[in-house]
Amino acid sequence: MKRKIALIAHGGAGGINYARRRLRGLKEAVEAGYDILCRGGSSLDAVEKTAVILEDKPVFNAGTGSYLNLTGEVEMDASIMTSELKFGAVGVIRDVKNPITIARMIMEKTDHLLLCGENAIKFARYMGLPYYDPKTKEKELIWQRKRRKRESRYFGNVWAFDNYSGTIGAVAIDTQGSISVATSSGGINLRLPGRVGDTPIIGAGTYADPNGGVSTTGHGEEIMRQLLAYRAVTLMSRLRAPEAGRRTLAHATRSGCRCGMIGIDKNINMLCLNNTKAMSWCYIKNGKMATFLDD
Ligand code: GLY
Repeated sequence: MKRKIALIAHGGAGGINYARRRLRGLKEAVEAGYDILCRGGSSLDAVEKTAVILEDKPVFNAGTGSYLNLTGEVEMDASIMTSELKFGAVGVIRDVKNPITIARMIMEKTDHLLLCGENAIKFARYMGLPYYDPKTKEKELIWQRKRRKRESRYFGNVWAFDNYSGTIGAVAIDTQGSISVATSSGGINLRLPGRVGDTPIIGAGTYADPNGGVSTTGHGEEIMRQLLAYRAVTLMSRLRAPEAGRRTLAHATRSGCRCGMIGIDKNINMLCLNNTKAMSWCYIKNGKMATFLDD
């Protein structure tokens, strides 16, 4: 029987700086996740592995290399979900290497869906995850430059000022037909401390059900208002993934939401769309790779 598996990942919507660096990171991450699927592994293991690799690449805005908030701290969000409706998420977490792994631990080791802030850090330590500083010199310099321009004050239109926010995400379907989604983000540059974006909100940054799975990227506040991931996955009950995505994106655009999304439906149709200047992505379906850049 022909094995039907696929994995897609994105490296954020917005402007694309360092396109080649992003492409290299995405290829490595997608190949590693796809390899797990090829060996009969679960879509959950595949998307976690893909997300961990992307979190560890400083070019992306997640894990190591996350953007800094107004006071110069890294606070990260992440979530993970399966088509069996299992979900785990972490919000405004600091001083850890891989927020996606903590989201999975919350899903598998607790009765809860979302832990935030100091107590999420305590949970991570309790689970044996050590202190780690995800701040990079590169993102610190960007923060210093932008902060000077804004005279250290918070202002109301953070997204318009900095549209390179990004996020990373992965969606996979395994040989059993199980679909999983992982999304992880360093949030928006210069946001207020304590701000939670769409990434750890079920149905906003991440959603999966037996019909499909979606990970979103872009302006978190608007993505939350529109519950974009849930909207797209719900449409997959009667539409193929590309059409479900097109309708969801048209709705988002009408609502002024600047975003992108990736997804897979139960019949292995892929969705990969954005209404921003660009979005970096890569997928492998039935052994064939496609990317946002032609090589
Ligand atoms: N979509 C990422 C964020 O707004 O935090």
